[in-house]
Amino acid sequence: MTSIAATYWEEARNLRLAGRLRMADPQPEALGLTREGVLRRAVGLTLEASGCTSPMGSRCRVETSGGRWVEAEVVGFSGERTFLMPTAHLDGLLPNARVVSMRQKGEVAVGEGLLGRVIDSDGVPLDGRGPIRAESWVGLAGVSINPLMREPITRSLDVGVRAINAMLPIGRGQRVGLFAGSGVGKSTLLGMMTRFTAADVIVVGLIGERGREVRDFVEATLGEEGLRRAVVVAAPADRPPLARLHGALRATAIAEYYRDQGLHVLLLMDSLTRYAQAQREIGLSVGEPPTTRGYPPSVFAKLPALVERAGNGADGRGSITAFYTVLTEGDDQQEPIADASRAILDGHIVLTRRIADSGQYPAIDIEVSVSRVMQDITDAPWRERIRKLKRLMSAYNAQRDLIAIGAYQRGNDPVVDEALARWPAIQHFLGQDVHEGADVEASRAALAQLLDGV
Ligand SMILES: Nc1ncnc2c1ncn2[C@@H]1O[C@H](COP(=O)(O)OP(=O)(O)O)[C@@H](O)[C@H]1O
Ligand SMILES: [Mg+2]
Repeated sequence: MTSIAATYWEEARNLRLAGRLRMADPQPEALGLTREGVLRRAVGLTLEASGCTSPMGSRCRVETSGGRWVEAEVVGFSGERTFLMPTAHLDGLLPNARVVSMRQKGEVAVGEGLLGRVIDSDGVPLDGRGPIRAESWVGLAGVSINPLMREPITRSLDVGVRAINAMLPIGRGQRVGLFAGSGVGKSTLLGMMTRFTAADVIVVGLIGERGREVRDFVEATLGEEGLRRAVVVAAPADRPPLARLHGALRATAIAEYYRDQGLHVLLLMDSLTRYAQAQREIGLSVGEPPTTRGYPPSVFAKLPALVERAGNGADGRGSITAFYTVLTEGDDQQEPIADASRAILDGHIVLTRRIADSGQYPAIDIEVSVSRVMQDITDAPWRERIRKLKRLMSAYNAQRDLIAIGAYQRGNDPVVDEALARWPAIQHFLGQDVHEGADVEASRAALAQLLDGV
């Protein structure tokens, strides 16, 4: 009885105090003074507070033992109860702790000073190179662009990878999925693009992958040279789900800032699947029903909301070309996140384990990969060559097993015969060393040489 009485007494005190403070100041919100709540329940990562009147998406601070505070975000409510989720590690949580709403609503510091830096999902530098000076602030959720005002995709973007430049040309402002199982070479391919893509700024979001990979990516893949024109936002797997979600939003917001400066930005998000899984953890813990293979409906709303932010700006104001990696576990292309992503992206590049296992890198499966803007950025002879190479490859692959055991009879099918004759050249054309770039002109010329040359 005493503890309940004490609880209500504390809450009543807090309410009285907040009420008095409100009366004392005509504009309490402007000073960051709002009604204080009390922590009622903490199960898993979900916190429930009462007496708190913060809007959805706003931040609160929760007092923990020893007088420290942890930040949490309002993710839902039910009656008098407000549901919160922490954005940092939770420890020392106490029953009836104070919950104070914060004035700032997850804003993102941006500016020139970000270039060459590695930050976490809250914008805190991880590279030990001192504070970052903010020139301005933008919202975490971005400002949506009227789709009719968006510049259409009409120019190709050089990504420095021959197989993509020649066979799956990417347009400036396009949003592409990179689909593959784990360990097939997604990160390595993104790394090649950071070195060779013709972009002004590269923003990399490392979301929900292993912590060790962050260091690998920054030191080995990007290196001094690559980092100079890049910003890396890292929210690895050990961070709470909200931090992973915010990491993806922050990376996108930073890309939007540079785009609005009129720059051409390459946004690389590794991975979109981990972003969806973070939203799944949040949705399920506030009581959303799991619908598609354990994913609650909010996941399928959050995916397009993120992806739609990339693309060309309004009327010639810069662009964001984005690559999102999508995990297809066991190379299952029908996995719900893969399925949903394919529908909202303007193309997908599939990496296949079979090709990687044969030692061919990048392991791009040309036959099943699609660039939906190809029609707008290629001419007829180029498209004809792309079709021809695809025909040769699918004819060869249909007979692959027979060819492997030497049972294929030459003369059975002229297309297979031609593919067989050109196969070593095709392999050579599609393969590429990670340290060598191939621009669009050279890639196109190599394709023409491959098919027309003798
Ligand atoms: N272009 C490449 N050339 C040589 N080896 C590669 C290449 N791409 C990937 N690999 C090999 O595959 C491994 C996994 O690649 P990684 O990019 O980390 O895959 P993912 O991000 O899909 O899990 C690398 O450690 C490397 O051994
Ligand atoms: Mg990876």
